[in-house]
Amino acid sequence: MPHTDPTHPVTAALARARSAEQPTAGPPCSQASQLSQRPRPPGPSAPLPPDLDRILRLSLAAGPDRPDGRLRPVPSAGALHPVDAHLLVGPGSALPAGRYAYHPLTHRIHRRGPAPSPVPAGTLAVLTATVGPTVAHYGHRAWPLLLLDIGHAAAALALAGSPAACLDAPGDLLAAAARLDGADGLPLAAVRMTADCPPDALTQWAAPDPAHGAPPTGPTGPSTLDSGTPDTAESATTRRLLAALGPAAGTRHHWHPTPPVDAPDTVLLTRRSARPDLLLGTPDERQLIALLTAAAAGHPRGPSWCVATGGTRPALLRLGDHGRLDLLASGDARPTLAIWAAHQEWIATTGAVLLAHGCPDDAPPERVRALHHTAGYAVGFAQLTAATLGLPSRPIGSWQRADLGAAIGREPGRDWVLHGLAIGRRPDERHEGDDDPS
Ligand SMILES: Cc1cc2nc3c(=O)[nH]c(=O)nc-3n(C[C@H](O)[C@H](O)[C@H](O)COP(=O)(O)O)c2cc1C
Repeated sequence: MPHTDPTHPVTAALARARSAEQPTAGPPCSQASQLSQRPRPPGPSAPLPPDLDRILRLSLAAGPDRPDGRLRPVPSAGALHPVDAHLLVGPGSALPAGRYAYHPLTHRIHRRGPAPSPVPAGTLAVLTATVGPTVAHYGHRAWPLLLLDIGHAAAALALAGSPAACLDAPGDLLAAAARLDGADGLPLAAVRMTADCPPDALTQWAAPDPAHGAPPTGPTGPSTLDSGTPDTAESATTRRLLAALGPAAGTRHHWHPTPPVDAPDTVLLTRRSARPDLLLGTPDERQLIALLTAAAAGHPRGPSWCVATGGTRPALLRLGDHGRLDLLASGDARPTLAIWAAHQEWIATTGAVLLAHGCPDDAPPERVRALHHTAGYAVGFAQLTAATLGLPSRPIGSWQRADLGAAIGREPGRDWVLHGLAIGRRPDERHEGDDDPS
């Protein structure tokens, strides 16, 4: 069945996630405890060597020693933190070559198995998503959020120093490289942790090992890592859907070098999503241009970007070719955005909302996955830019009936909101009359 058929499973799931249908209440799931309940991976554990220690401490680590409890440096929809990292360590590291699972609570790695022979240089991380808690909270709206969360996790690793990310690798390649099975989350992306990885490192790690038989074809059944949450029909559907969104086996994957980052470790470590009541006041023109530029530069195959502003002349603005703000539409889009974003009323008065948009109704499955990953990835970069400009911000992930194209008079069904970043301006930086970027 072609993906342009509205009954194709991916096309139908996309339409459902974007519809007004409310998720049915799932089994109880304590958001605060999701990270603290993360099962300890099996296998002997070891501390991380300094280069990996720094990158993971500034991105995915969580633990009681963090000043804010068990949150991570990376944001996550509903603070559910579904992303885990599996490290593929080759020659050049202080660790013996092999496959390892990273445990965010102890910030240690657990040996899972040997490296292939021959083993490529450098260290990679394969990122997996555990779907149970996010599905328990968001139901049929969970899967786009899981894809966005993977993008944010890849961005957090990139911002902390990993040199390149791969957001379009087939799931079976990632699963074979990390030797994942039904006990692991779904593999959705990879990052280079060190610069010396060859371009075909994933393929080399995925090669069959004659001593240990063929690599597994990947996680298919219920994940035991999801065991903190009862398995439901919705989580099984979500896992199948996420697997179906991956590119076909053998499809070429791409490594995207990390754009230049200039942020002190303390900014990465202390980044937080601001409380909605601190997101008032519209950023000025220079700040909006910096945010749109950071989002667009985040990933070359990403979605389109615009920003909805408040102030005295509210408007929808985009970055023009000449590097200045172009008017996409005049008027205040924020009250509509508040309704589209699951009726989060605070959005109607927030200073500005950066919007990732695109992904038409009939987008091919692998493009749906890539656009959500790259939207999360690029919003990660935009959120760091906001932090370095001293602007409070907060990601916005659930969007229903958010047909931005139709709302500004274009063809319906072609240009949907995928992700957002609400941005404010600290009260001490706001001055009478200077919040109008139009
Ligand atoms: C993909 C994604 C979607 C999110 N969606 C929303 C949202 O719709 N509304 C909201 O208030 N916060 C949203 N957040 C922010 C999270 O609630 C926040 O990251 C989480 O509570 C952890 O807090 P921290 O970012 O301060 O570490 C989102 C975050 C991510 C990464």
